[in-house]
Amino acid sequence: MINQVIELAERPDGQPSENNFRIKEIETPTTKDGEVLVQSKYISVDPYMRGRMRDEKSYMPPFEVNAPIQGGVVAEILESKSDNWREGDLVEGILSWQRIQTVRPELLRKVSPQVQPSSLALSTLGMTGLTAYFGLMDIGQPQKGETVVVSGAAGAVGGVVVQIAKIQGCRVVAIAGSDEKTTYLENELGADVALNYKTTTDMSEALKTACPEGVDVYFDNVGGEISDAVIPLINKFARIVLCGQIALYNETSIPHGPRVAPLLVKRSALMKGFIVTDYQNQIKEGVTALSGWYQQGLLKHQETVVEGFEKLPQAFLRLFTGEKLGKLVVQVN
Ligand SMILES: NC(=O)c1ccc[n+]([C@@H]2O[C@H](COP(=O)([O-])OP(=O)(O)OC[C@H]3O[C@@H](n4cnc5c(N)ncnc54)[C@H](OP(=O)(O)O)[C@@H]3O)[C@@H](O)[C@H]2O)c1
Repeated sequence: MINQVIELAERPDGQPSENNFRIKEIETPTTKDGEVLVQSKYISVDPYMRGRMRDEKSYMPPFEVNAPIQGGVVAEILESKSDNWREGDLVEGILSWQRIQTVRPELLRKVSPQVQPSSLALSTLGMTGLTAYFGLMDIGQPQKGETVVVSGAAGAVGGVVVQIAKIQGCRVVAIAGSDEKTTYLENELGADVALNYKTTTDMSEALKTACPEGVDVYFDNVGGEISDAVIPLINKFARIVLCGQIALYNETSIPHGPRVAPLLVKRSALMKGFIVTDYQNQIKEGVTALSGWYQQGLLKHQETVVEGFEKLPQAFLRLFTGEKLGKLVVQVN
């Protein structure tokens, strides 16, 4: 069997490129007692992985140079030398960017055959859906009739946030980077207004018009100048959910923005960051809520599927150009 791995060849300086990755052929490992041999089916590319390319302490250790990139993978068990895990089972976990690998099953979760397509376990019913659910429901605490602004709204997390906020009865203002995305957000996901930040000349004015009663919840996936335009519009007791800051991930030094602390004081507002794994013990609650909405047709799933293991680096780079809709996954064939 052909086996291949993708490694980090060198750490990016600024915008990452394909040169930062190396694909190579390797031997397929032998399964030891207690292990399973798995074949990757879908591999997730996620913005947080950019942080792991830096040699910097964070909530996950940095990738090693000349070692495999790791991320969310849905895989099929080819061989099991562990009780309770059977050949043919689909599993999900943080694995290497590798076609076939051995793994200790404690690091895996089973993917129910009812999860169709199984890539949903990486997106709407998996990590990105749970990020949207816990960030919005626990920190954002959206109340019926409130205004929720979502940046990065046509992405994996943002698209789910928009829909959950609508389920909660909120007015939703969505921000994304193309007309195709804003049309999708208004026509398919039910956003009340969607703004294209790349073509809107004055975001502050556009947001004022879109949020006539101010902003109660800001779910921030992006940061930078988009947040600079949203935050001055917050209402008393507003909640700012800091989910991600992708606009800054490729910066070599963090640019200074407006100081928001005085406004947070004046508005008695909350600004809180989180990592989805903070909610590790509540995963069942999140999956139950998301699956329920999905089955009722209240939560739509949107994926951009790139075919081919060797396309992983290119797919990863598309997160920073925005050339995709919804969750970006690579199907390994
Ligand atoms: N806290 C957590 O536990 C957690 C978990 C998962 C994800 N996150 C964060 O949540 C955010 C969204 O993640 P995701 O998986 O849903 O990714 P995604 O939104 O599916 O993909 C990234 C999107 O970000 C937008 N973008 C890229 N560069 C930008 C820039 N300079 N300015 C504005 N927008 C830019 C692009 O869309 P446009 O076309 O709209 O520009 C792109 O499609 C990321 O910041 C990620 O790090 C956090």
